[in-house]
Amino acid sequence: MELEGNWNYPTSIRFGAGRIRELPEACRSLGMQRPLLVTDAALAKLPMVSDSVRACVAFGLHCEVFSDLQANPVEENVTRGVAAFRKGKHDGVIAFGGGSALDTGKAVALMVGQTRPLFDFEDREDWCTRVDVGGMAAVVAVPTTAGTGSEVGRASVITDLTDHTKKVIFHPCMLPAVVIADPELTLGLPPHVTAATGMDALSHSLEAFCSPLYHPMAEGIAVEGMRLIRDWLPVAVADGGNLEARSHMLIASSMGATAFQKGLGAMHSLSHPCGAHLNTHHGLTNAVVMPYVLVWNRSAIEDKMVRLAAFLRVGSHSFDGVLEWVLELRRGIGIPRTLAELGVRPEHAASLAPRALADPSTGTNPLPMTERDFEQLYRNCISGKL
Ligand SMILES: [Fe+2]
Repeated sequence: MELEGNWNYPTSIRFGAGRIRELPEACRSLGMQRPLLVTDAALAKLPMVSDSVRACVAFGLHCEVFSDLQANPVEENVTRGVAAFRKGKHDGVIAFGGGSALDTGKAVALMVGQTRPLFDFEDREDWCTRVDVGGMAAVVAVPTTAGTGSEVGRASVITDLTDHTKKVIFHPCMLPAVVIADPELTLGLPPHVTAATGMDALSHSLEAFCSPLYHPMAEGIAVEGMRLIRDWLPVAVADGGNLEARSHMLIASSMGATAFQKGLGAMHSLSHPCGAHLNTHHGLTNAVVMPYVLVWNRSAIEDKMVRLAAFLRVGSHSFDGVLEWVLELRRGIGIPRTLAELGVRPEHAASLAPRALADPSTGTNPLPMTERDFEQLYRNCISGKL
């Protein structure tokens, strides 16, 4: 089977090995003459970025790179990106990289046309109606990791340093107009990054599947995304050069983010405060907390887990079958067992719990949560008590 396609759901996706060569034409198709390529500093030094810039320039585009951003991006990264966009008289954004670069690029494209500050567009009530859509720049997204799925997401996660919370900046038009999903760009990811980002993709599909909202389309995408991860994540971690595994993981990542329009849950609620306060890796944190959250939610998701286990053909077609599969997968790809191994200590539980409660993902956890519940859940994740 040829692993290539042109899809228009949930946005225009050019999927397949080598399709990065279509980047200049994709920019032109959106009317860009002067794209700003937003990426992180490490990627900016790699040939995949310099080759892309060179190809754009050869195509007649004026293309510059902005790479002043950090893992777990902050408002200042966006502000500087907006300044670079204006200074270079750019007319579009190429968001190129993992979640941090994609989220920063999308936020820059949003903010170039706004007069309000960034956090006025947090995903709350009807705040997205504050956006001046006409001022937004178009985005071509080029993912280089398989996990975040931000290339098909309508939001960016940016850390607010004033209160050390990760805030979700949301507008439907933040969905990139064109995605170039080229699995060759992910071939060089080291095993531990492949594992952590792949588990982020799994957490998206799993939490979306478990969310109590009614959205059968999202559930359908979530289960097939999880099957691809079951079949291919261990292969991609063990053999990073396996293009077939990389291809399936890249689309599974986009599927996870498409599915989580249905909502996330306590895995992300627990993970976001750890990332904002202790700078833990997002996907890795989700991977660690995953089984503890499943066990916590057991009473609300038991029926769904039976269905999922049957589809995935794991264990005894039961909740325990899914749980054992997650634990085995986690072990097999080298994910730590407890949050303590990521530097989260018992004394952090009380201060992180209210932030987890306030996280937007909490509203769609299968069970209603309290601050006390989150404190207990943190303690379970830190101590390893399943
Ligand atoms: Fe995530």
